[in-house]
Amino acid sequence: MVARGAGFCFGVKRALKMAFEAARGGQGDVVTLGPIIHNPQVVASLEEEGLRVVTSLEDVDGGTLVVRSHGLPRRVLDEAAEKGMTIVDATCPFVKQAQDRAVQLEREGHAVVVVGEEDHPEVLSITGSLEGVATVVDGTSPIVSDLPEADRYGVVCQTTQPQEHLSAVVSELLPRTRELKVFNTICEATFERQESALKAAREVDLMLVVGGRNSANTRRLWELCREAGRDAYHIETADELEPEWFEGKEEVGITGGASTPQWIVDEVVAAVERI
Ligand code: F3S
Repeated sequence: MVARGAGFCFGVKRALKMAFEAARGGQGDVVTLGPIIHNPQVVASLEEEGLRVVTSLEDVDGGTLVVRSHGLPRRVLDEAAEKGMTIVDATCPFVKQAQDRAVQLEREGHAVVVVGEEDHPEVLSITGSLEGVATVVDGTSPIVSDLPEADRYGVVCQTTQPQEHLSAVVSELLPRTRELKVFNTICEATFERQESALKAAREVDLMLVVGGRNSANTRRLWELCREAGRDAYHIETADELEPEWFEGKEEVGITGGASTPQWIVDEVVAAVERI
């Protein structure tokens, strides 16, 4: 059973199209800060087209910067502009919306709280859009001690977080404040993918979650399947499948993250059928 929504989401498809176009036709050196998506196979084929992955703009002089779907903090965009770089902005519109909402909350005088993973590039792009400092909480542990005292809190969420994390933070904040403004910035694609993975997980004996090991949304799908009490494995490619996983299992569910190409999901399906 292949879960609905497995494979590239709208934002990733859009970013890849822009990246391939820039790699083929961009001016000078064409770079991204970090891999364009969390999928090593796709990154390798983009490198063949001429898109170079760098970790900072320090050694880059001019050329083209492709901004990933996660977005970038404002100071990095300013740095690229100062270097005279052409910017191809492939920030996912849903991420852009989370950035804009955070800015709005800050302007309105709220203490901004971002629900998500502190070091995730998307979260850094959201907090990096602000003038001041936001508090990042992951929604899985009590947050009270992390928060500054404030009369007004404003909340946005990393686009790939599960709904429960946002809800947990909101219910913890509510009794602490007189005003709480929440923008549910979890993207539709994430919501649907998580729902359909959970639905599949409840119906099968074993779940396979396909996607880059460094892909936060893929890892999250894996966690959700396990939390649903299902045996589940996170794999990057079909080569990692072990026949003994399937002993005594009759039905297998397969899902993939937002940055997992359809052809990798198809290869896993074919390999499972062979086993
Ligand atoms: Fe955008 Fe959602 Fe994909 S935020 S990049 S459409 S997972």
